Amino acid sequence: MRARPWLFEEHPELEGRIPWTSLGDLPTPVHRLEGLCESEELCEIWIKRDDRSSSHYGGNKVRKLEFTLADAKRRGKRYVLTFGGLGSNHCLATTIHSRRLGLRSILVLHPQPINPHVRRNLLLDVKFGAEVHLARNSLERALIVAWIKLTRRGIYTLPLGGSSPLGALGFVDAGLELARQVDSGELPEPREIYLALGTGGTLAGLLVGLRLAGLDSRLVGVRVTPERIGNARRVADLANRVVRLLRSRSDSVPDLRFSPSDLEVIHGFYGPGYGAPTREAVEARELLLGTDGVELDLTYTAKAFAALLAKAIAGARGPLLFWDTFNSVDLTPHLEGVGEGDLPPRVREFLRREGGPSL
Ligand SMILES: Cc1ncc(COP(=O)(O)O)c(C=O)c1O
Repeated sequence: MRARPWLFEEHPELEGRIPWTSLGDLPTPVHRLEGLCESEELCEIWIKRDDRSSSHYGGNKVRKLEFTLADAKRRGKRYVLTFGGLGSNHCLATTIHSRRLGLRSILVLHPQPINPHVRRNLLLDVKFGAEVHLARNSLERALIVAWIKLTRRGIYTLPLGGSSPLGALGFVDAGLELARQVDSGELPEPREIYLALGTGGTLAGLLVGLRLAGLDSRLVGVRVTPERIGNARRVADLANRVVRLLRSRSDSVPDLRFSPSDLEVIHGFYGPGYGAPTREAVEARELLLGTDGVELDLTYTAKAFAALLAKAIAGARGPLLFWDTFNSVDLTPHLEGVGEGDLPPRVREFLRREGGPSL
């Protein structure tokens, strides 16, 4: 496990000027998808296992939280207020890792299609001590947030997906980590890196990190959220804000500038909406589980992997790297002793009306 971020190794003056605390089991492994290679003759596909980024709860959020929750602690906050869909992985990750640091999460959640994954994440939110609110529209959300801020002291606010410039630093660091793995011969330099594009913090940070590290890999974001949230302009703008943040703390960080053409965004795998499964995603998920035993989720990673497969089958030249951003720690034991009766009445009522299979 690393004692400090690669970012601080390369720019030591950042240490102490940028908040950071260790939450992840990093670096995460990389390997070739051998099973897929045998069955499909798709031999130049590699995977970065951020699903194993923490034994408490992995996925892409841990890297962001190492910086943002450290900031909350440094500022003496007691609560972390954040937002997402009812089954948000970001909200669950925030809850679990906040608790490790003695902070309590307050989640303001918006509706999304209800499925067993959503129900499960909601129960886990409550099990790990989150205060959960349902906001069915932006007016309700504003009122709930105003009430929370009036009635509590010591609130640290994290935006949707944890994608603040500070949060994105987690993926600047991930880009530096990948470059070290390439340097040490663990994998070849990828021609393209595929990952799910949600709120963009992951891609924005990687864009900066890869450039700082001198890697030429092209980033391909597969959009899984509405286009007003997931788009190349927003990613490039956030990447520029990340550089400004770094340069405000250290002169040694180069003055990089990013534009939307610095990454590719694939829009065709989104399907009917956020969290709505597509046939391609279901098939990609089954395929990878069968060949390499890697489990993807249908909201984010299966859509991204389906796009990579389509490109590979159409003859894209490798090596291609798939960045697995979904948690693979099994939290089933934590579901013991918690049921839908423990959810707030408004959330329970919403689940009852919206239907969908229960757990
Ligand atoms: C599994 C998974 N992959 C990818 C993402 C997208 O990351 P970002 O919001 O930084 O674009 C998320 C965000 O919630 C996620 O839960």
